[in-house]
Amino acid sequence: MESKLTVYTGSPQETRNLGRLLGSLASGGEVYLLTGNLGTGKTHLVQGIGFGLGVKEYACSPSFMIAREYHGRLMLYHLDLYRLDRIEEIVDIGVEQYFNNNSVCAIEWAEKGSGVLPAENLSIELEDLGSDKRRITFISHGERYSELVRRLRESLGHKSEVAWNFQ
Ligand SMILES: Nc1ncnc2c1ncn2[C@@H]1O[C@H](COP(=O)(O)OP(=O)(O)O)[C@@H](O)[C@H]1O
Ligand SMILES: [Mg+2]
Repeated sequence: MESKLTVYTGSPQETRNLGRLLGSLASGGEVYLLTGNLGTGKTHLVQGIGFGLGVKEYACSPSFMIAREYHGRLMLYHLDLYRLDRIEEIVDIGVEQYFNNNSVCAIEWAEKGSGVLPAENLSIELEDLGSDKRRITFISHGERYSELVRRLRESLGHKSEVAWNFQ
């Protein structure tokens, strides 16, 4: 059964903090499928995921490459399918190489890869609610991701220094 968690952030830093928490919960093999319009904060969230994995640099949008990799406690593969024209391009780059137990994979514009990305994943939908407010909805697909959503919800409850709200 899918689990759902909705979190509201009020600044880019809060979105990064949320990502950092998510990254800190990763144990390897996680796949995050991010969707949402331009400027909703997908890249900020991925930067945070990197920090939570111990990556020391800012993840930036891979403009001319589809994928970038970062070294932390686990590898972070950051894919951005924005410029993808045809689904075959993902197959051609051998996307399976980014899904393994020693790494986590975060994919922006994941809807463009539907059908060839793992069916088990954490889907993350970002929405711009005006000014700096963002609604970020986590939906689990698969048992391990339900457990992840449960742990994320639990951790958010304990991180009172971060000014976010969740349901
Ligand atoms: N709560 C928020 N979370 C994330 N980004 C925010 C937020 N409020 C404002 N912003 C701004 O929105 C933009 C998000 O950029 P980015 O993360 O690159 O989005 P995307 O990758 O979805 O296109 C940045 O300019 C950032 O400063
Ligand atoms: Mg982006």
